[in-house]
Amino acid sequence: TDLSHIRNFSIVAHIDHGKSTLADRLIQMTDTVAERDMKEQMLDAMDIERERGITIKANTVRIDYTAVDGEQYVLNLIDTPGHVDFAYEVSRSMRAVEGSLLVVDSTQGVEAQTLANVYQAIDANHEIVPVLNKIDLPATDCDRVAEQIEDVIGIDASDAIRVSAKTGVGIRETLEAIIHRLPAPTGDRDAPLKAMLVDSWYDAYLGVVVLVRIMDGVLKKGDRVRMMQNGSVHHVDRIGVFRPAMTVVDQLGPGEIGFLTASIKQVRDTKVGDTITHEKRGTDKPLPGFKPSVPVVFCGLFPVDNAEFEDLRDAIEKLALNDASFSYEMETSAALGFGFRCGFLGLLHLEVIRDRIEREYDIDLITTAPSVIYHIYGRDGEVTELHNPADMPDPSTIDHIEEPRIKATILVPDDFLGDVLKLCQDRRGIQMDLTYAGSRAMVVYDLPLNEVVFDFYDRLKSVTKGYASFDYQLLGYRTDNLVKMQVLVNDEPVDALSTMVHRDRAEQRGRAMCEKLKDLIPRHMFKIPIQAAIGGKVIARETLAALRKDVTAKCYGGDVTRKKKLLEKQKAGKKKMRQFGKVEIPQQAFISALKMD
Ligand code: GTP
Repeated sequence: TDLSHIRNFSIVAHIDHGKSTLADRLIQMTDTVAERDMKEQMLDAMDIERERGITIKANTVRIDYTAVDGEQYVLNLIDTPGHVDFAYEVSRSMRAVEGSLLVVDSTQGVEAQTLANVYQAIDANHEIVPVLNKIDLPATDCDRVAEQIEDVIGIDASDAIRVSAKTGVGIRETLEAIIHRLPAPTGDRDAPLKAMLVDSWYDAYLGVVVLVRIMDGVLKKGDRVRMMQNGSVHHVDRIGVFRPAMTVVDQLGPGEIGFLTASIKQVRDTKVGDTITHEKRGTDKPLPGFKPSVPVVFCGLFPVDNAEFEDLRDAIEKLALNDASFSYEMETSAALGFGFRCGFLGLLHLEVIRDRIEREYDIDLITTAPSVIYHIYGRDGEVTELHNPADMPDPSTIDHIEEPRIKATILVPDDFLGDVLKLCQDRRGIQMDLTYAGSRAMVVYDLPLNEVVFDFYDRLKSVTKGYASFDYQLLGYRTDNLVKMQVLVNDEPVDALSTMVHRDRAEQRGRAMCEKLKDLIPRHMFKIPIQAAIGGKVIARETLAALRKDVTAKCYGGDVTRKKKLLEKQKAGKKKMRQFGKVEIPQQAFISALKMD
């Protein structure tokens, strides 16, 4: 296709503002998919994505569009992941296209992820077309939202398109805006091949599938190509485009977006952002700005039932096949037995992987406290990365410790502002900015990532009744007074509950954790001390009293069904318990104990 008739774009939006619905509508209006094959949320492939409504992998579709003026266009839509954890993937896919539709729910207005994503688009020099969605709803207020887009984002919204992705109003206008307002791609057919690796995933039939955007040159079936990051060479055995079903084509030229397969074994061998060129007469100038995506949050995953360790290994290996940003290594813990220490891009990523293991592979897991990476500066001048509080060196050998900090942006209605400020303050936040847009406040905080990884989202949602939106980016590392807090149950340290905390908060955290555990651990036949300690010094303590023998004793033998029910309940509880020395700790305790109120 001639370049002037190609348009490449992505859709940026806050979650639930209607990105997927709009994409579906664009596909439908252009008859890309036969009506009978059209299912809701065409672009969200995986079940879990559908359930959570989160698009994780970038998806792509090529749309043939006959414009009002009769010209034929090829539109390539790259669907970017909407969540902050995947910020780097978002930024790469943005660089593969020239423009964005900025979708804002006209009943809601601009939210934190709207901002984060649109800034990425602006960074990538995109032409941006604002789309005000959900105009079919009574609460729609396009004028207010357009004004807000201008105030907060600073782009012209006077010619924003008013759309209902639900009813189809404004879809034709959106397609016309894509061809008239977004620029065509540029590129040189005769130059050496330069293709951006936008995404890759493992397909059971085809092996690794690589999504590419051709910048210069032409890619053909049978070509031998080189990944410029690691120099590996592959024989291209298939190229094609997504309509959205995979459709084989002969070649891909400049400005085009499609896929290649080349008998690549692992997703790990395909780095998002890498440049692909020909083995012979290739370019020697890779595309700028490549960086590998690195995990920032770590936690241990252990099977509740030790016998399921091999199943867990199998599940983790399979998931890792398709997710190069997820790292893992085997870990053994005195208390939890064999498991894996896993690294994730962020909390959502962690949750998604954990859920998939539990659901798709049916393995009950114990998740240890999520930890960030600390930089430990030893007295001997050496710097080490600490991924697991259990590996913390002897404090007497440490000079100082640095922790990662983030810049968090929160948008919240005025009424809840006080609660949000208090929450951030409680989490050792430093306020950087506070501005207003209509009746909403935008607060920017510098926060320690370790105060955010566990339950910050949950707390934020609950104190704002779901009205706040949140996004963050890493700021860098800073020194603080951090210590490792251990938890001892019946005098045995439970590594899985060890956390790094700020010294000033340690007592308070320790007390809260002991109190929680006291409620979460069932009584035993003996007294159980529960303690929090820093470097051998106990800072908090609770005692769980001993219990009588028989749970059914107080039923006086009369009510048989009640007795049975109790016994069954006890049995079900057993399944999810772990033995620590002489004490059984329910799985739920590990998660709940770490939540702070
Ligand atoms: P993620 O892909 O999960 O990030 O969200 P999204 O932005 O794609 O939102 P999605 O398309 O899933 O839409 C969110 C909800 O809004 C769904 O329940 C849609 O049915 C609904 N919705 C989308 N567009 C419209 C619209 O124009 N009008 C109305 N009334 N509802 C809409």
